[in-house]
Amino acid sequence: MILVTGATGQIGRLVVEQLLNMEVPVRAFVRNGDAFKDFHHASLEVAVGTFEDEKSLEKAVEGVDRLLLVARDNPNQVIQHENVIKVAERKGVKHIVKLSALGVSKGSPISLMRWHAETEEQLRNSKMDWTFLHPQLYMQNLLRFGDSVAGKGSFSAPMGSSEFALVDIRDIAEAAAKVLSDEDGHASKIYTLTGPTAVSYKEIAKHLSTILGQSIHYNAVTQKQFYETLLENGTPPWRAYDLAYITEAYPEDKNRLITNDINTLLNRSARSIQTFLTDHQENFRSEK
Ligand SMILES: NC(=O)c1ccc[n+]([C@@H]2O[C@H](COP(=O)([O-])OP(=O)(O)OC[C@H]3O[C@@H](n4cnc5c(N)ncnc54)[C@H](OP(=O)(O)O)[C@@H]3O)[C@@H](O)[C@H]2O)c1
Repeated sequence: MILVTGATGQIGRLVVEQLLNMEVPVRAFVRNGDAFKDFHHASLEVAVGTFEDEKSLEKAVEGVDRLLLVARDNPNQVIQHENVIKVAERKGVKHIVKLSALGVSKGSPISLMRWHAETEEQLRNSKMDWTFLHPQLYMQNLLRFGDSVAGKGSFSAPMGSSEFALVDIRDIAEAAAKVLSDEDGHASKIYTLTGPTAVSYKEIAKHLSTILGQSIHYNAVTQKQFYETLLENGTPPWRAYDLAYITEAYPEDKNRLITNDINTLLNRSARSIQTFLTDHQENFRSEK
């Protein structure tokens, strides 16, 4: 049995769907018991609980061999993950696949990168097998610009003129499902998941202009401007800092890094930015 945590999130939900498509038995760990109520599938079980509730974790890992560890970035995540790791180890889980990020480092100025690094260290020190997934920034983050593009024909971000090998979460989820469902071959491996090309945000605006048939402009705002706008909108300071200064998490050559790991795992190329934007074009149109 495979346990998918964060099963109602962007990645977790797609991993559950992928595993079910592969006819692999899966248990979804959810906070809201209704989350999969319209999702009838003989191979799907649902376990209700939270990372803070040890009893619910103990029940959820019963009979589980492999577990996907995914959560929402937050200042308590190291403790939340530690709870999962301790319970899993005690109850005989053999292998944890952890969704981290490209740029994890204990010395990073970005808090989520430090938190992921701490959890990775705990897993390396556990008796269980581990695999770390290190995706580049998600293409799906661009969906946040939908209203701005639709309303003003422009979007603002603090990414300067750097190029990033953004990756589609559909590819991350498929890669995660492959690693979880294979019998072996992935222990002690780190997969760096990137898109097939590195693109600047100016190029993204150009692709959007072509797809939407209207001129779309990218405003390169400063990190400080972006940080202050997020604070004004009520974003917690740590989160505002991480989002505004995310480019500090890796040197320029890592932004542009393109790996073959998706091809190796899935036997096909990663989705391109053009495919992503075309598939999600309605999100950027005014007549949504
Ligand atoms: N965005 C990017 O560009 C990017 C790039 C690389 C890596 N990442 C990493 O991706 C991860 C986020 O993945 P995602 O986008 O799939 O997350 P997400 O959509 O925010 O989903 C988070 C999931 O965690 C669950 N959760 C939150 N707190 C919980 C708790 N206390 N107990 C049990 N479950 C809890 C949520 O459940 P509810 O539905 O009940 O809230 C939800 O299912 C982060 O670790 C981030 O660092 C992101």
